[in-house]
Formats: sequence, C-alpha cells, structure tokens
Amino acid sequence: MSKSYKQTIFHNLSFQLAQGEWLGIVGENGSGKSTLVKIIAGLEKADQGTIFLREKVQSSYTRAEWAQQIQLVTQYSRKSLDPMKTVAQLLREPLQLWHLAPADKIDDRITSIIAHFNLPVSILTAYPATLSGGQYQRVSLALSLLVEPAILICDEITASLDKINERHLFKFLRAQKQMTVIMISHDGALIDKVCDRSIRIQDFST
Ligand SMILES: Nc1ncnc2c1ncn2[C@@H]1O[C@H](COP(=O)(O)OP(=O)(O)O)[C@@H](O)[C@H]1O
Ligand SMILES: [Mg+2]
Repeated sequence: MSKSYKQTIFHNLSFQLAQGEWLGIVGENGSGKSTLVKIIAGLEKADQGTIFLREKVQSSYTRAEWAQQIQLVTQYSRKSLDPMKTVAQLLREPLQLWHLAPADKIDDRITSIIAHFNLPVSILTAYPATLSGGQYQRVSLALSLLVEPAILICDEITASLDKINERHLFKFLRAQKQMTVIMISHDGALIDKVCDRSIRIQDFST
C-alpha cells in the first residue's frame, strides 16, 4: 500500500502475516510507523492498496468487526482512557458492545481480567487519572485484549516502561499463543529480541 501527506510516507509497502507471528516495524521518528498501523487498524485510509484478513478484503468487514479482529494499543499517554469513567465502566463497555459475556457474567469476567493483569480489585472503582503509569497501561492493554483480537498492534508501548515491566509485558503477550502481534518501536534492538522478523519503513520510502 502507499500513503502520502505532503510528501510520500511509504510507497508499495507490502507484507503478509501468519497467525501467531510477531512482526516488528522499525523506523526513525516521523518515518510513518504510526501512520501505517492506523491504516491497518482502519483509523486512516491508504491512498492505494488493500488489506486482507483471512482472505477477506477489509471493505467486506464492518467497522465493529474489524475493530474486534485488530486492536491498536498506542504509546502510553494519559489521553487514551475516558477520564469520566471508572475502570469497571471502561471494561464493561466492550463486553456489552460485542456481547462477549452474558449480562449476568460480566462482573465475573471483569474480576478475572483484573486478576489476569495483576491489578488490585480496588482499581475497579478508580478513575484513570488516579492510576499509576503501569496500571494505566495495563488497563489500556486489558481493554484491547478482552475482545480477543486476532491481531494486536503495539505502537511504542514500552516507551514508558522500565526493563522489569517491559519483560513482564512481553512474557504476558507471548502467552497469548494464537495472537498475531505487530510491534512498533524506534528501538531496533528490542524488535530484534522479541519479534520473529521485522520491516523498515525507510525501505519503502521511494
Ligand atoms: N494527519 C496527518 N496529516 C499530515 N501529516 C501527517 C499526519 N499524520 C502524520 N503526518 C506526518 O507523517 C509523517 C509520519 O508520521 P508518523 O506516522 O506519526 O511517524 P512515526 O510514528 O514513525 O513517528 C510525519 O512527517 C508526520 O508529520
Ligand atoms: Mg509514532
């Protein structure tokens, strides 16, 4: 696929992913990594090109279907969670929207998600602004993972983590065996360590 704003961001960029594979995307700041994954997640349009998921073209999915299959977690920022909702309300929404649990099982499901992400039960009544950085990120990740997406895209998510939490995060993501992961980082060494292979945006700049 190709994408330009004022200048060409990438041209004829193409790749395939096998289920469970981890693909790294590396490139300098401003090279187009976030643009590429926003296109894959359906939040931006490519100028040219098509994305297939399980042999079906993107346009044959509804927005909600696509979002359930492909989840994007962006760089930790204090803006991604709705500040007016408690953690329990935030987690309840996708479960209801996508009918991922029967109404009488939703609270059980939320409790198990919280435990799974090593978060205290007290967090359920907390608002995003009161969470620590690590908690905020784990809640964001929990929100993305509870729909059990086929593909998880992580855009610079380890940027604000220390090495211990980084290792913890990768171990956790690796345990989701069926999940395909697209991992973006400006840190090539990190990508080499955790991904099966990687592509460089710069290789598609002309
Ligand atoms: N919506 C937009 N309109 C115009 N230019 C944009 C837009 N989004 C990103 N860009 C430009 O595209 C380039 C790539 O941005 P981005 O994908 O965020 O790069 P990266 O994530 O690799 O740092 C940058 O020069 C950025 O300024
Ligand atoms: Mg970016």
